Amino acid sequence: MSKIGIFVGTAGGTSMKIADALVEAFGIDEEDVINMEEDFDDVEDQMLQYDILFIGSSTWGQGDVHFSWVDPQLEIEDEEFDFSGKTVAFFGAGDCKKHGEHFCSALGKLHKTFTKAGAKAIGFIPKDGYEYEFSLAEMDGKLCGCAIDEHNEPEKTDERIALWIDSLKSELGQ
Ligand SMILES: Cc1cc2nc3c(=O)[nH]c(=O)nc-3n(C[C@H](O)[C@H](O)[C@H](O)COP(=O)(O)O)c2cc1C
Repeated sequence: MSKIGIFVGTAGGTSMKIADALVEAFGIDEEDVINMEEDFDDVEDQMLQYDILFIGSSTWGQGDVHFSWVDPQLEIEDEEFDFSGKTVAFFGAGDCKKHGEHFCSALGKLHKTFTKAGAKAIGFIPKDGYEYEFSLAEMDGKLCGCAIDEHNEPEKTDERIALWIDSLKSELGQ
């Protein structure tokens, strides 16, 4: 059976809402939920033990990943870790009004890092219903993962997460 881990960088805990839904939907153990700020220290030991990695980050600065992702992301890129054979899916919170010029761009940046390292990305969703100016998470007319906005569209969050999890389950054959 495939081993699933969740790696999430969050400041206020909003992105954890998605992580919690993943835990419930896939029956993931608590020890396999890695808060990047509190629990993470090693790419090789912690990330590469999983077959499927759910990668979460809220977006900061000008489309940046949460600060807890900065070093791991550089490490994966610089040390050329091999994620081939791994499946990854991305999620995170953002703000499409105040930061609509880079809505949830952290998902796009992390997508680039992990796919360049050989991982296969799943969990793209239609961008219908989203309103933003620009996002690095947008690829080929879709979003490369589950983006939520609890500031402006909290009423859409539960449905967005549920649809994304359905698509993950069908892509994973579960
Ligand atoms: C200084 C600052 C910069 C931000 N930059 C972005 C951004 O570039 N893109 C975006 O979508 N959201 C941006 N946000 C909004 C956060 O991502 C949003 O508040 C999110 O809900 C935080 O989620 P978390 O609680 O999981 O960390 C920014 C917020 C602050 C305070």
